[in-house]
Amino acid sequence: MTIIRDMVVDDAEGIAEVARLSWFYTYSHIFSEEQIIATTSRNYNPEFLARLAYPSERTRMFVAEDNGRVVGFAQVGEKNYWDPEKHDPHKAELSRIYIHPQFMRRGIGRMLLDAVEGWVRDKGLGSYELVVHKDNTVGRSFYSKNGLAEEGEPDGDGHLLMRKRVD
Ligand SMILES: CC(C)(COP(=O)(O)OP(=O)(O)OC[C@H]1O[C@@H](n2cnc3c(N)ncnc32)[C@H](O)[C@@H]1OP(=O)(O)O)[C@@H](O)C(=O)NCCC(=O)NCCS
Repeated sequence: MTIIRDMVVDDAEGIAEVARLSWFYTYSHIFSEEQIIATTSRNYNPEFLARLAYPSERTRMFVAEDNGRVVGFAQVGEKNYWDPEKHDPHKAELSRIYIHPQFMRRGIGRMLLDAVEGWVRDKGLGSYELVVHKDNTVGRSFYSKNGLAEEGEPDGDGHLLMRKRVD
């Protein structure tokens, strides 16, 4: 059985492993192996991730657990909460959602999105946004099925903005 819960410090290694596998699965046709290793090592460093386990008004990390094992995660927060110059407390952003490749297409992404949308609703932020790479067909398909709409054209790095209202 799969459950969704808040991250705890001990999840950091499991999250890093899911991120690495899911990045290779998703981005091997978009980025080089070196780029994927460099990005996942930087953004999913277990010591850095562990900080997300502590309660914060500005962000929340949810974990999907299946039989005691981390199989997915999603982070939502106030837009750019980590950057004092760009932080916008009136907007919500889904900054990461990744499922272990062997656990995809079982509704776990949808369960995590429900938790994310609950956070946005509870904060009264009205909507949330995210960016997805234009060539990430799996991600784009998942988001459109779940009511997110594309806004404008991809930027120079191939990033496409998507948004959903949650009142
Ligand atoms: C996108 C993602 C989070 C969806 O999670 P999930 O648990 O697989 O999704 P659900 O089971 O709730 O929904 C299934 C839908 O997601 C999409 N999807 C998920 N896995 C897919 C796959 N391997 N191939 C094609 N579509 C897929 C489809 O739209 C699918 O609907 P369908 O089965 O009717 O075609 C997950 O596939 C994932 O981690 N992908 C890689 C990381 C990623 O792209 N994250 C977003 C970065 S911005």
